[in-house]
Amino acid sequence: MASNITWHAGSVSLTERQDLLKQKGLTIWFTGLSASGKSTLATALEQTLLHAGIISYRLDGDNIRFGLNKNLGFGPDDRTENIRRISEVAKLFADSTVIAITAFISPYRQDRDTARQLHQEAGIPFVEVFADAPLEVVEQRDPKGLYKKAKAGEIKEFTGISAPYEAPEKPEIHIRTDQVSVEEGVKAVIKYLVDQGYIAADKIKQ
Ligand SMILES: Nc1ncnc2c1ncn2[C@@H]1O[C@H](COP(=O)(O)OP(=O)(O)O)[C@@H](O)[C@H]1O
Ligand SMILES: [Mg+2]
Repeated sequence: MASNITWHAGSVSLTERQDLLKQKGLTIWFTGLSASGKSTLATALEQTLLHAGIISYRLDGDNIRFGLNKNLGFGPDDRTENIRRISEVAKLFADSTVIAITAFISPYRQDRDTARQLHQEAGIPFVEVFADAPLEVVEQRDPKGLYKKAKAGEIKEFTGISAPYEAPEKPEIHIRTDQVSVEEGVKAVIKYLVDQGYIAADKIKQ
């Protein structure tokens, strides 16, 4: 870390910014196996929030690896760095009052906890959402044919096959995507946001 740096505070505090823009930022962090439904849910949630006039922005694992994180692979250190950067970026979006929605496998509990801590220290809510479906189900779905390749040994370090996935112990929201529809999954998140007072009930159809 550089030593000759000093934090330069803005002239507008977090609460003043929230009052001015009439919106509170937070991060909704989807985690789960590949094909568990993170991107599907994140996309539908973003659409629902935007249509309700609530500014939200999705950061998706695959997409981020085309740009910001294109120099990272799937080994343990790179996975941790992948999540560290996304935690910081999501926090910046949320600090600007946007609802940041992330969709990353984020297999390590420690990395997700670090993301949570980063938000807590900044006074920004962090909502962990476990997109959960059994391995047999996601292997069956296999929308990108990745499980097939991983099982054939064509992809190394594939989560659930040849790399670990540490399920959340106490996620704010747990969605069994093999048991509920995408719409019901989105509703569960919206309900949580309304119940916590993060978004106004009258802004959104539940
Ligand atoms: N209830 C559900 N919630 C989310 N996805 C579902 C659900 N039921 C079926 N699916 C399907 O599962 C797949 C999930 O893929 P995707 O969202 O890309 O997963 P991930 O981003 O977690 O890798 C999609 O083909 C989606 O249509
Ligand atoms: Mg995805």
